[in-house]
Amino acid sequence: MDSEPSPARRPERTAAAASGVLVIVGASGDLTKRLLMPAVYNLACDGLLPEAFAIVGMGREPMTTAEFRNQQRAEIGRFKTRVTLDERRWQWLESRLHYTGGEFNDPAAFARLKALVDDVAAASGAAGNTLLYLAISPDFFGLVNQQLDAAGFTGLAGQKRIIVEKPFGKDLASAQSLNQTLLDHWREEEIYRIDHYLGKETVQNLLAFRLANGMFAPLWDARHIDHIQISATETVGVETRGGYYDKTGVVRDMLQNHLLQMLAYVCMEPPSSLDPGVIRDAKSDLLRSVRLLNRTDVERDCVRGQYGAGLRVDGEAVVGYREEPAVDPDSNTETYAAIKLHIDNDRWAGMPVYLRSGKSLWKRGTEIVVQFKPTAPAGGPGNQLIFHIQPFQAVEIRMQAKRPGPTFMLQSAGMRFDYAETFEAARGTGYEVLLFSALNGDPTLFSRTDFVETSWQIVQPVLDAWRESRAGDYPNYAAGTWGPLAAGMLLSRDGRRWHESLNRAVLARSPFFTAAPVVLLNNLLLAFQPLAVEAGTAVVERGDLKSEMYFVCRGELEAVGEAGEVLGRIREGEFFGEMAVLFDRPRSATVRATRPCDLLVLDGGDFRRIIQDFPEADAEFRRLAAERQAARREA
Ligand code: BG6
Repeated sequence: MDSEPSPARRPERTAAAASGVLVIVGASGDLTKRLLMPAVYNLACDGLLPEAFAIVGMGREPMTTAEFRNQQRAEIGRFKTRVTLDERRWQWLESRLHYTGGEFNDPAAFARLKALVDDVAAASGAAGNTLLYLAISPDFFGLVNQQLDAAGFTGLAGQKRIIVEKPFGKDLASAQSLNQTLLDHWREEEIYRIDHYLGKETVQNLLAFRLANGMFAPLWDARHIDHIQISATETVGVETRGGYYDKTGVVRDMLQNHLLQMLAYVCMEPPSSLDPGVIRDAKSDLLRSVRLLNRTDVERDCVRGQYGAGLRVDGEAVVGYREEPAVDPDSNTETYAAIKLHIDNDRWAGMPVYLRSGKSLWKRGTEIVVQFKPTAPAGGPGNQLIFHIQPFQAVEIRMQAKRPGPTFMLQSAGMRFDYAETFEAARGTGYEVLLFSALNGDPTLFSRTDFVETSWQIVQPVLDAWRESRAGDYPNYAAGTWGPLAAGMLLSRDGRRWHESLNRAVLARSPFFTAAPVVLLNNLLLAFQPLAVEAGTAVVERGDLKSEMYFVCRGELEAVGEAGEVLGRIREGEFFGEMAVLFDRPRSATVRATRPCDLLVLDGGDFRRIIQDFPEADAEFRRLAAERQAARREA
């Protein structure tokens, strides 16, 4: 990296925030009780709020201050992220809560709000720093900004800032007009746009990682890196948000904001200082170098999906997207997207970045995989650097290591910095750092107008193409699976594959593995490769001498004998192909998928190398496999 700023140049977050008044417009709504109040409470518990601090809420629900305090007290019990409620700290905070009710179209309501804020600011000694939080639907942004302006908030003495939540527009044009609405009343420096992913420790750590660990800097380019994958998969469907989601889709809901934020952090030029303006310039510059897709690119490099009925990981049956409440039964909205992008600058020319996100998938997890090119003289695949963003939080390096023993044999191994093992940090909501930064006037973690508009520019061609053409194959993935097959093909076409982060819980679903030693499982997890196949695919052919074994994550297959007779069914959580691997035999049956299947493949050579060190587990595998074989014969 060119000139590396020392992290020490930035004030550590050990001192309390600047004094100020937090004004929440929309305070009787969900966001306040679920996220804002628990976050402020956490800041209070950590001693990060000054004595001169107060919250003034305004909402459409008529309530007195006393009622608002009671309501928030009841809710904090439900939504706090700490195990117990510290009564003293809550009291401290509760005594600083104030409320006034009123409709957003009523100028008198905003005049009352202004008078209350002035009173509270003067009485608490917090005047001169006002943070306005718009916890309201964007439909009211225009109106509420006018009212705030008319009531005198834009002319307040001292520091004043306005925080707005996503969705920030629904396309480029609406984002531009929303920005104009804000800029009509506020200066750019006063506008704080929240992307809650930037509140995540692991996302902030991307910046720390790049700036404070110089060893990776010389490798951070397309000469050394083969490609980058950014995945955010969710197990939940649209839940109660069908009405919102059906107008939105995953490109607007996740890619345009959260995924492009992560992309910017990972790929931006290293900023020359930690100055917020410099960091935000670097992020915006990066987005401006993303090549804009044309119609042909969208057809070739973007995959959309919508979930159909399926099974959750816990086995519960769930409905398809079109059957969800408030969703159009004929909806063309995508609940899954995978797209390939290029960054046209010196650093990244020629290197693809793959982004994917979806609802109702097999696993909740956000990961960034930096796949290095294979360059090692001893062979082996390229190294991987994996940022585990959530729920598992870690940074991992996949490497090749020599297996212990007299011969020179390589095996995949992992090196890992695990947050849970390294830090004793209290679990927060992610909003703590955002509120703390905003009180202190630090906009680093907030999106500037140019970033938001450029990110819309990047996704706009995808939105346009997908709006204008109906997907003919929806639903094209079953709930609880890895997503549409075409997403796998997007990478396999380039000779690559999605990285699926597996954990022991996946394997533990098979009786083969319930008693296996942890070290064995850890080794196997690194060796498994994902394989998704269509219904009808013959995964192994009778008589073949190939040696892979397969674990069925999702789907069902049938074993077919010589005369085409069905010998048995292979279901989720089961293995097949193990006879060839364990006993070196040709395949005794053809195994064909009867439904789309998500499989994990274990190469026989890898398996044999790993199992050598576990003779007892090896014997147990053989016993179970022979038992299964006998049972099949009897059947
Ligand atoms: C929100 C989206 O921005 O992010 C939701 O609107 C999504 O649809 C959520 O579920 C994911 O956030 P997280 O923090 O759970 O990854």
